Amino acid sequence: MDLTMRPRRLRGGEAIRRMVRETRMDKASLIYPMFVMDGENKAEEIPSLVGQYRYTVDRMGEELEKLLKAGVTNVMLFGIPEHKDEVGSQAYAEDGIVQRALRKAKQDYPELYLITDVCMCEYTSHGHCGVLCDHDVDNDPTLELLAKTALSHVQAGAAMVAPSDMMDGRVRAIREKLDANGFQNTPIMSYAVKYASAFYGPFRDAAGSAPSFGDRKSYQMDPHNRREGIKEALLDVEEGADIIMVKPAMSYLDLVREVRDCIDLPVATYSVSGEYAMVKAAALKGWIDEERIVCEMATAAYRAGADIYITYYAKELAGFMQEGRIG
Ligand code: PBG
Repeated sequence: MDLTMRPRRLRGGEAIRRMVRETRMDKASLIYPMFVMDGENKAEEIPSLVGQYRYTVDRMGEELEKLLKAGVTNVMLFGIPEHKDEVGSQAYAEDGIVQRALRKAKQDYPELYLITDVCMCEYTSHGHCGVLCDHDVDNDPTLELLAKTALSHVQAGAAMVAPSDMMDGRVRAIREKLDANGFQNTPIMSYAVKYASAFYGPFRDAAGSAPSFGDRKSYQMDPHNRREGIKEALLDVEEGADIIMVKPAMSYLDLVREVRDCIDLPVATYSVSGEYAMVKAAALKGWIDEERIVCEMATAAYRAGADIYITYYAKELAGFMQEGRIG
């Protein structure tokens, strides 16, 4: 056969395949989401997230040490308070669960880069992401509470804040509040393109944050919409976001690519609880090769254009990257 191009030449062996690889990954770009809860001396496995735990502040070091050993230095904290109320007051309490966890983690492990999820849903008695007016979240009064929450996280030691509530104008409100208090240099990673997704199910079990009535469709995005995702991303850039996140990851990689192509900020994507749970469940059944699936999902996210990957598999992925199995 007289062929000038034989693409198989570049697939002939491991050395050449690695040489021409287009997508490279680094464990410095991984973020591990972690749950901290009120109470003492507890590490509870989350039933729908096998292998993931809720830790009280005195026990979270067990997990943080494992992360550091694996080479994961970026952690995003989610708080599970003992008491919830209508206005989510534990979200911005000085001695709230996340605030206490931040102070301890910062003191014990200064090498960690601590990020916090900023939202109300884990703290409100009704499980919605803000304060209510009639039966819907009231946007503008919620902004002040989100800004207060972000400020209290930064004051307690957060290096970066990540608002996930999907209220209009929250990035601007948080930016103004941080700036007014001398935190001009603290970045905001915005959950800018966040869909109303069934993939958050296991997270809501973990955090006890499922809405007690209705759903989140009046603030999170409709999965049918692509252009609206770009609109949300551009708006958050205008409001002062430093990093734009697309969430969930696996079913929304088209948006990762779109955002990558039209915005010059770093792009993050969050492989959410439902993605982890599906992989874990099938792996436990022996139906899939967990390691290869996890690597393939991560590779796809980076190939789509993500610079940062948020995943419950961060420790394992860091190991695979270290061993050169991916990246
Ligand atoms: C808080 C928040 C959620 C997640 C991240 N931040 C839940 C939600 O929006 O219902 C989901 C993360 C996951 O599923 O892993 N608003």
